[in-house]
Amino acid sequence: MGRIEPDDSKKNETCEGEMPSHVAIIMDGNGRWAKARHMPRIFGHNAGVEALRNIVHCAINYNIEILTIYAFSTENWRRPQDEIDGLFALLKQFVRNDLTTLHKNGVRIRIQGRREGLNNEILSLIDEAEEKTKNNNKLTLVICFNYGGQAEILDATKAIATKVLSGEIKVDEIDIETFEKHLNSAGWSHPDLIIRTAGEQRLSNFLMWQSAYSELVFTQVLWPDFETKDFEMAINEFKKRKRRFGGI
Ligand code: FPP
Repeated sequence: MGRIEPDDSKKNETCEGEMPSHVAIIMDGNGRWAKARHMPRIFGHNAGVEALRNIVHCAINYNIEILTIYAFSTENWRRPQDEIDGLFALLKQFVRNDLTTLHKNGVRIRIQGRREGLNNEILSLIDEAEEKTKNNNKLTLVICFNYGGQAEILDATKAIATKVLSGEIKVDEIDIETFEKHLNSAGWSHPDLIIRTAGEQRLSNFLMWQSAYSELVFTQVLWPDFETKDFEMAINEFKKRKRRFGGI
C-alpha cells in the first residue's frame, strides 16, 4: 500500500503513471469562502462537508485505498468557541447522517487524534462508526480530529519512554518500526499524495511523521469549491512525479 520501508525502498516505489493508494487532504479555505459571501465562517465549514462528500465518492471511484482528511487540529482549539462548537456539531452530523450511506458504500471509518478533550457523546459516536464499518474494504476514510502531528510524535515518544523505563524495550531496539507501532497510524500506509487547498504551501502539523516521502500538491481552489476535476488534476499531477524515496 505504498508504505515506506527504510530497508527496501525500491519495493514500494511508485512508478510514473501509478495511482496513489493513500491520499490525504488539508481542507483549507472554508473561512475565506464564507467571508467572500458575507457569511459566518461555519457556513464555509458546512459547504466544506458537501465538498468532502463528493470527494469521498471520487476516491471510491478511483479505487483509492485510504483518504485521510484534516478536520480539526490540536491547534484549532485556539479558534472562537462558536466556531469550535460548529466544527464539533459538523463532525457529529457527518458521522450520524452519513454513516448509513458510507457503510453501504463499503467505507471504513477511522478517527485519528487525541481522545482527551472530546466529550463522551462524540467518543461513543466515533466508537460506533468505527465498530460498524470495521470490516468494510472499499475505502478507508481517516478523519483526523483533535489531531496534531507533533502531539502524535510526542505521545509515541512518551509511550516508548515508559516501556524503556519498565524494561519492556531497550534503547537500542528503538528503530523506525518500533516508533511507527506507537503512532495513531500504526499499521497503516503513509500518504502517497497530500493535497492542500486555498493557496498556502505548508503542512500545518498534519501527518508530520507520515509525510516524509509524500508528494505535495497545492491548489488555489478554496475547499468548498474543490470538485471532482480538481481532485483529478491533483492525481494527474501526482502521476507525473518520479518518486525515489531517497534512492536514485
Ligand atoms: C480550514 O479552513 C478548515 C478547517 C479548520 C476545518 C475543515 C473542516 C471541514 C471541511 C468540515 C468538517 C468535516 C468533518 C467531517 C467534521 P479555515 O477555516 O482555516 O479557512 P480560512 O483559512 O479560509 O480561514
